[in-house]
Amino acid sequence: MQQQIIEVTNVNKSFQNGKQIINVLDRVSFHVEKGEIVTLLGKSGCGKSTLLNMVGGFEKPDEGSVILDGKSIKQPTKKCVMLFQQINLLPWRSVLKNVELGLAGEKISREEKNERVMEALKLVGLEGHLHQFPHQLSGGMQQRVAIARALAIAPDVILMDEPFAALDTFNRYHLQDELLRIQEKKRTTILLVTHDIDEAVYLSDRILIMESHPGRIFKDIPIKLVKPRDRAHGDFHYYRKKILEEFELSGDQFVPEYNI
Ligand SMILES: Nc1ncnc2c1ncn2[C@@H]1O[C@H](COP(=O)(O)OP(=O)(O)OP(=O)(O)O)[C@@H](O)[C@H]1O
Ligand SMILES: [Mg+2]
Repeated sequence: MQQQIIEVTNVNKSFQNGKQIINVLDRVSFHVEKGEIVTLLGKSGCGKSTLLNMVGGFEKPDEGSVILDGKSIKQPTKKCVMLFQQINLLPWRSVLKNVELGLAGEKISREEKNERVMEALKLVGLEGHLHQFPHQLSGGMQQRVAIARALAIAPDVILMDEPFAALDTFNRYHLQDELLRIQEKKRTTILLVTHDIDEAVYLSDRILIMESHPGRIFKDIPIKLVKPRDRAHGDFHYYRKKILEEFELSGDQFVPEYNI
């Protein structure tokens, strides 16, 4: 039987901007099962990052509940690691030292620490770049260091907020493939935020489509295609078209990055 690892129930959230109160999320409910890749897709400002931040423990709902592995989320934990859009590596630390940072404060032996760091770096193919500094790496390699740092922690869940948005198409495709390969091996649960329909269809087991003002999830679309997926296949285009149509139906004007 599938087990739910993330359960978001009837979440409301408002922010005050000066005198104005913006109702950002309105009765949002969804769940993610262990080992799933689920994507939140919606236009800018619909509340995707706010929702992801709540699952990560960085933001609190005004009402409703956010449960991680059976427990209410009160603060960030190492069970659930966030990968931000801005790659926040420390420029004065080498690749190896940046990945080690993920394990700072863990009560484990030096050997185990080294083992976990090296395993994570091998998974992202950076074992040959241990002593380089972030400025000596391409954007794609820097993002791989950030992914390795998250993997070294061995979290149950990785939250990703547009992690590949700053990369060129080739790097993005390459990293998407690496992510799928690693996820298949580790069975880590991934909750992803993206603007990119192609990325969502390529990676996701399910896509949750959000509408804006206030943010709501109005459609849960399972992507029933075997992985790895073929972006040129008719079935792939079927889902892209279906999702674009959902945005037209919602009244949200969605401008995808490179979909026509
Ligand atoms: N701390 C805050 N204080 C006030 N308003 C906020 C705060 N955080 C978010 N908002 C507002 O909440 C709304 C949703 O923001 P959020 O960052 O969740 O959107 P998003 O869907 O991630 O957008 P994007 O795709 O552009 O990243 C926006 O209108 C934003 O201005
Ligand atoms: Mg955002």
